[in-house]
Amino acid sequence: MKVFSGSSNKPLSEKIAKQLGVSVSPCEIYIFPDGERRIRIEENVVDEDVIIVQTTSPVPDTHIMELFFLVDAAKRSGAKSITAVVPYLGYQRQDHVFREGEAVSLDVVIKTLEASGVDRIITFDLHSIKIPELFKIPIVHLSALSIFAQKIKELFPDYKDSILISPDMGGIRRIKIISELLDGMPFASIEKNRDLATGDISSNKFDSVFQKEAKRAIIVDDMISTGRTIVAACDLLLQNGVEEVLVFATHPVFSNSASKILQESKVAKVFVTDTIDVQQDKVFEKLEVLSVAQEIAGKLKN
Ligand code: R5P
Repeated sequence: MKVFSGSSNKPLSEKIAKQLGVSVSPCEIYIFPDGERRIRIEENVVDEDVIIVQTTSPVPDTHIMELFFLVDAAKRSGAKSITAVVPYLGYQRQDHVFREGEAVSLDVVIKTLEASGVDRIITFDLHSIKIPELFKIPIVHLSALSIFAQKIKELFPDYKDSILISPDMGGIRRIKIISELLDGMPFASIEKNRDLATGDISSNKFDSVFQKEAKRAIIVDDMISTGRTIVAACDLLLQNGVEEVLVFATHPVFSNSASKILQESKVAKVFVTDTIDVQQDKVFEKLEVLSVAQEIAGKLKN
């Protein structure tokens, strides 16, 4: 087995390789003056099972192209099989036509990945449970929810006064799963509306089961991009008697000034995973990063 890393998340690639008892194999990623990339793997992969780790975090297009080229290089060099570990799959929120005339960008990404020669994809917490159906090749869809549940157990062993919150109705399945992992911790969902043209968010009411007596809210989401969903949910919770709000979100996309917005918000703590490598300028005091390396390595060992 040979593990190669794109440039998007080398720390995670190294952790995965370490768990597998190998080193990350060398590859050259040369950037031409015009921004084009030339990829060359620098190890013999003939008849090898090749693992390529590349998250498609910002800047997604650059990282996606790099992934296609890494796959092509491995295939041309005689790899027996190619597994693409894409912990965060970019464009996943564009999985269907929302407004007439739109492209289904995720479909294009998937088709191109399949055409490039990937045999299997391993990814984490996709935005919609229907996304795996869009793939023709096998996809292993992992989740950070068990990592989050473990952390919540460590922090609040008796779960007292706590409620799990989905910041939108689309996340209700996710919240039910983590509630089960936490012995049926109560949960509720917020009704969020997003203006599809401007991205503006309004989160102004709960579904019917919000329990007013909860003093601590634990928001669970798949990703944080601008941070606006989390801040709107936090404000609504505080207006409704909650005293402390914590956040668990798998993918720290952290677009624009999300880090600043979250640090300055009333959220007490933000837990994310390393599906995306949080760059130094986006790290903030309230942030804690949990690793998904073990889950990925576990799947690769099977
Ligand atoms: C939306 O449906 C997702 O589950 C996230 O809540 C959303 O993508 C977060 O985006 P933002 O941080 O920009 O509000």
